[in-house]
Amino acid sequence: MIQRIKELQKLVEEFSPVNIAEIEEFRLKFLSKKGLITELFNDFRTLNPEEKKIVGVEINKLKQFTTDKLNELKSSLVVSDNSEVELDLSRPGDSFKLGTRHPISIVRNEIISIFTRLGFVVGDGAEIEDDDHNFSKLNFPDDHPARDMQDTFFISSDMNVLLRTHTSSVQAHEMSELKPPIRSLAPGRVYRNEAISARAHCLFHQIEGLYVDKNVSFADLKQTLDYFAKEMFGEKTKIRLRPSYFPFTEPSAEVDVSCTLCGGKGCNVCKETGWLEILGCGMVDPNVFETAGIDPNVYSGFAFGMGIERITMLKYGIKDLRLFFENDLRFLEQFNTAY
Ligand code: DAH
Repeated sequence: MIQRIKELQKLVEEFSPVNIAEIEEFRLKFLSKKGLITELFNDFRTLNPEEKKIVGVEINKLKQFTTDKLNELKSSLVVSDNSEVELDLSRPGDSFKLGTRHPISIVRNEIISIFTRLGFVVGDGAEIEDDDHNFSKLNFPDDHPARDMQDTFFISSDMNVLLRTHTSSVQAHEMSELKPPIRSLAPGRVYRNEAISARAHCLFHQIEGLYVDKNVSFADLKQTLDYFAKEMFGEKTKIRLRPSYFPFTEPSAEVDVSCTLCGGKGCNVCKETGWLEILGCGMVDPNVFETAGIDPNVYSGFAFGMGIERITMLKYGIKDLRLFFENDLRFLEQFNTAY
C-alpha cells in the first residue's frame, strides 16, 4: 500500500493544470467518494493494527497534501481564468493618482510658449561651463566680483571649469557658433554659492533670450518684453525699464512690472512702490559681438535673462523659494494644470 501511496503522491506533485476545469476533474478523480485516495481508505480497513499505524499516517499526509495543492492551484488560476471569474462590471474602477507638473516647469513652459509665438527657438546649453563662456566672452573683466569664489562653484582647481552662474553662457556659445539671424531661448539650471534662505538658493532656474539680426533696436526689446509681461501677468500689466549695468549689454536695464497684487497702487508685496523687478536685459555689447566674430557694424541685438523662480513666486504669490526644492506634495499638488 505504501507503494501505491507513493505513486499517487507523485501524480499529485506532477499535476499542473491550465484551467479551473482541470483542477475540478483532478479533485473528483482523487478526493471524491469514489476517488483514488478514498479507495485507499477502504483498503486501509483490511490492514492489521500494526500496519494501520504506519499506513494511516501516510494516507492522511497524502490527502492533506492533495487538498492543499488543489486549493493553491485554484486561487492562482482564478485570477487568470476568465471563464471561471464572475466579473462585476458595475464595480467602480481603481483610481490612481495623476502626477502634477512642478510649478517651475509650468512657468518655464508658459514663458517658452509666449516667446515661441514671437519666433524664438528653444536652445540648450551645458550646466558645466568654462570660464570663457560664463565670463570672458561675455565681457566680464578679470577682476569682476561675479568671478569670485563666493559666487561661483568652481570644479577645477585652476578655476577654469565651473557650474554656470547664469544662462547667459548659452548666448556666448550661440553667438560664436551660429550665424545671425539668431532668435533663441535658453532655459535651465544655474548655480551660485549662496546661503539658502527664503529669497536665495544655491541652485535655481533662469531663462535667457537672445535676438541678433540687422537693425534690431532698443524699441524691439521693449516691445518684446511688454508683450511678454502682458501675456504672463495679464493684459493690464505695465512695464518700466530702469538703467542698469551688465558687462555683456550696453545699454542695460532692469525691468519691473506693475505689482501683480495691487496693480500699482502700492502694497506690502511691492514694498509700496507699485513695481516688481522681473528681469535684466539690454542691447548686446559690441565687445561681445567682436569676441564672437559677429560684425557689430552690421548686426545689433538684444538679450534678456530672468529667474524662473522669481516669476513663479510673483505669479502665484509664493513667499519662500525653498518650497520649490523640498518636494512637499502638499505644495506641489496645488499646481494642477495642463501646462
Ligand atoms: N545674466 C544676468 C544674471 O544672471 C541676467 C541678464 C541680464 C541676462 C541682462 C541678460 C541680460 O541676457 O541682457 O543676473
